Amino acid sequence: MTSEWTPPSKRRRPIDFAALGVPAGRYVLPDVTDFLVTPAATPEGAGRINAYLTGETTLDTLQPAEAEFIRRHFAEAAEGQRQKCVTYFETKVPRRYAAARPSTIATAWAQSVVRNPDDTRSLLIVGPTGTGKTHYAYGVLRGIAETGTTTGWAAYTAADLYAQLRPRAGRDSEATFETIADTDVLFVDDLAAAKLTEWTEEVTYRLINHRYEQCKPGIFTSNVPPAQLRDALGERIASRLTEMCERIVLKGDDRRKGMAA
Ligand SMILES: Nc1ncnc2c1ncn2[C@@H]1O[C@H](COP(=O)(O)OP(=O)(O)OP(=O)(O)O)[C@@H](O)[C@H]1O
Ligand SMILES: [Mg+2]
Repeated sequence: MTSEWTPPSKRRRPIDFAALGVPAGRYVLPDVTDFLVTPAATPEGAGRINAYLTGETTLDTLQPAEAEFIRRHFAEAAEGQRQKCVTYFETKVPRRYAAARPSTIATAWAQSVVRNPDDTRSLLIVGPTGTGKTHYAYGVLRGIAETGTTTGWAAYTAADLYAQLRPRAGRDSEATFETIADTDVLFVDDLAAAKLTEWTEEVTYRLINHRYEQCKPGIFTSNVPPAQLRDALGERIASRLTEMCERIVLKGDDRRKGMAA
């Protein structure tokens, strides 16, 4: 006789989304009465579906039509979730970058971030003015949205970030700092665009150091040439960025010149 008790939720097997070919997520379970109106429906089949959904049996105990009923339910739920995330992205992305799409590398990074956020290095996108750094970064954020996961993200230019964090009467800028610093994926555009003051350097250091210590992934851009980043950002910030970031170097002409009428 044992006095140990395992809550039923711990005894259940989780739904095997990989076996179903559906991205993992938190979805509402299918309603078995919907199965009962399909041509393949039998009471035994409904019982098997219920047994699978409550974690008592494995997927291979189901008839193909029963597994397909479950698969289709979760595939539709995943697609609904993906569309919601993309719509959210489309309401937040600045209009100019609404057409940005992730490159193959950006898609792989986005997928890695949602699967292994602690284990994915941040991105430092560098290149001269107008080479497409901001466009690239929004493409990456779209890639995250397209995974359909609830990974949170926030995007700021460094200048807007400092404006948000500047101490102001009636506003708890420390609480704002914590919210921003803890975002799942933080995009800070145009680091070192202006010469850092003692205050902006301290804020940037605290932010980068927090992300560095917590191994939280981010996307940073700068048009300062890599060799000058140390001078522009200071040793402490540049050193952390070097360790925590994959560098993406964009080359070429200022794309805006080609667009001028
Ligand atoms: N891959 C792309 N396809 C189509 N348009 C692009 C692409 N990359 C950038 N652009 C467009 O080129 C212009 C400049 O891009 P962007 O603003 O991303 O440059 P940037 O490197 O961030 O410049 P800055 O250093 O001044 O911030 C924008 O109008 C952007 O939409
Ligand atoms: Mg830019």
